[in-house]
This record gives sequence, structure tokens and C-alpha cells, in this order.
Amino acid sequence: MEHLRHALLVAALAITAAPTAASSQSAFPTKPITLIVPAAAGGPTDTVSRLIAESMTRTLGQTVVVENIGGAGGTLGMTRVAAAAPDGYTVAVWHIAHATAPALYNNLKYDVVNDFDHIGRITDAPMTIVSKTAVTAKDTKELFDWIRAQKTNVTYGHAGVGSASHLCALILMKELGVQMTGVGYRGTGPAMNDLISGQFDVMCDQTTNTTNHILGGKIKGYAVTTKSKVSSLPDLPTLDSTALPGFEVSAWHAMWAPKGLPKESADKLNAALQAALKDPKVIERFASLGTAPVDQSLATPAALKSYLTAEVQRWGAVIKAAGVQGN
Ligand code: MLT
Repeated sequence: MEHLRHALLVAALAITAAPTAASSQSAFPTKPITLIVPAAAGGPTDTVSRLIAESMTRTLGQTVVVENIGGAGGTLGMTRVAAAAPDGYTVAVWHIAHATAPALYNNLKYDVVNDFDHIGRITDAPMTIVSKTAVTAKDTKELFDWIRAQKTNVTYGHAGVGSASHLCALILMKELGVQMTGVGYRGTGPAMNDLISGQFDVMCDQTTNTTNHILGGKIKGYAVTTKSKVSSLPDLPTLDSTALPGFEVSAWHAMWAPKGLPKESADKLNAALQAALKDPKVIERFASLGTAPVDQSLATPAALKSYLTAEVQRWGAVIKAAGVQGN
């Protein structure tokens, strides 16, 4: 009897112990996750990040809180991410500027590929050529004629050296053979406010930031920078089909974390990101802003790592040829 009682006790302990062991393995996340956006609030990266954060919050059962740390073309925020504890509670959403940083910033405190865990790519946002409403050009050709005639008198807004808006303007100036005067911001959120109030002339910015202001008549939109037209802005032609054949640039976004996440955290973050990319709310909001989630096959850690590595090479060569330096 005593033997049986002992056996039952052991069995009971085993049954109560089993779920505890399983749940401690699947505990992540037990507290809110900080999502660092290395640009100011109210801009395109912020918009994409908040939509993804909202969906991941639902999947993970913990709040994903966006923190904006703009400045120095996003390198301030990414420095914070690289130095954070690799426990899954700090992640970043940043974009193409992560790939341009090594060629532009001599004093980068991190290696853009090897000091991060790659969670997955999110979206490739088309860009638009826009101006303040006071610019009288009726189409892209007239805008470019005006820029060529005014040269350095034309001011363009951007989100810091190496940002998507800066890169797009660099390529545009190279194509047009002109040098405009840059005005730097901590993100194109604040830059957009100044464009609307006419503080500078033109900008190349993502549809995720420009669509509503173009449609609302607060700024003028001339063309999109993708090879295909953008459904949220059906009146805008592509630059490729009008003034600049071959012109193509978009701002790809992705999620990173500090290097060395526990496998469980990395897997759960990737699964939550993948779920966000299939979330009808995210798809609908992205579409209304002219973009779409990337294919699921591109939203994996391995696919992001190899894409980023190729992009670092590609932009390094472009930036070297353009002779630009961030610091
Ligand atoms: C950029 O130009 O790189 C972005 O617009 C930055 C931002 O999200 O504000």
C-alpha cells in the first residue's frame, strides 16, 4: 500500500511538473517588447512599424511598444539596438539605410550584418517625387526643367545622410546633372510638415508618408519611382515611363534584433512577423498607403541576411561613385 501511495505521488508530481517545464520553455515574451524606430515619429518607418507592432502585439500577447530614436541617418537608433541585451525584448524596424550606413559612416559602432540577428524583411515601399504646392510645374518634365534652371537654389528635404529620401535625391540629382541644396531632418515625418508649410521645395519620399498628403492636396505629387504604377496614387506616372527611363528605387524595410537571441525568442519574433505580413488589417492599411508585405519567403532570417549583404555591396559601390560621406 505504502509502495502504491509512493508510486501515485511520483506520478502526480510528474504530471504537475510536466506543464511547468513546457510553459517555462514557451514563456517568451513575459513583458512588453521595445521596437526601436531609428527615425522620427509620424514618418514612413514609424507608420510601417506601428502597423506591424499592433499585429505582433495580438500574436505575442504582449505589447510591442514603438520608441523613436532618430538622427544621423538612423545610425543612432541602430547603435542602441546593437548594444541592447539580446533577449528578444529589443527589436528594430529599419530600412535600406541600414545597408548604406557602412559606406557613409566612418565611425559606425556596429557591423550591420554581423552584429544583428535578422528577423525578416517586411515591405518594399515605393517612393514618390513631391513638391510644395507653390511650385508651379504641372508635370515631372516641367519640374525637372525648373530644377535644372534653378540649380542649387532648389532645396530638398531628407531624413539624414544615407536615408531613403537622401539616396533617392542623390540618384535623381545624378540623373539630372544638378546639385540641389539639402535640408536634413531626423525623419521625413517632420520634413513632411515643413514641405506642407512650404519651408523647402521638393522631396523624394515613400508612398507610406506621401499618399494621403498628395490625395489631400497638401503637397504636389509628380511620379512614382517604381517600374509599375502604384494603386493608391493612380494618377501618378512612373518616372521610368516619363522623364527618366530606367529610374527605379524603393525603400525596403526589415526587422532586426541584437546579435545572439535565444532560439525561442528569434523563432517567436519571426513567426509573429510572418503572421503580421498575412494579417488582413496590415495588408489593407499597407495597400491604402501604396505598399504590400513582401512574399513570405523573403521574410525569413536567412533571406534577410543574404539580401542585406548584397545591398551593402550594391549601395557601397553607388555611394563611392557619388563621393558622398556621412561623417
Ligand atoms: C527616409 O527617408 O529614410 C525615411 O523617410 C525615414 C523616416 O522613416 O522618417
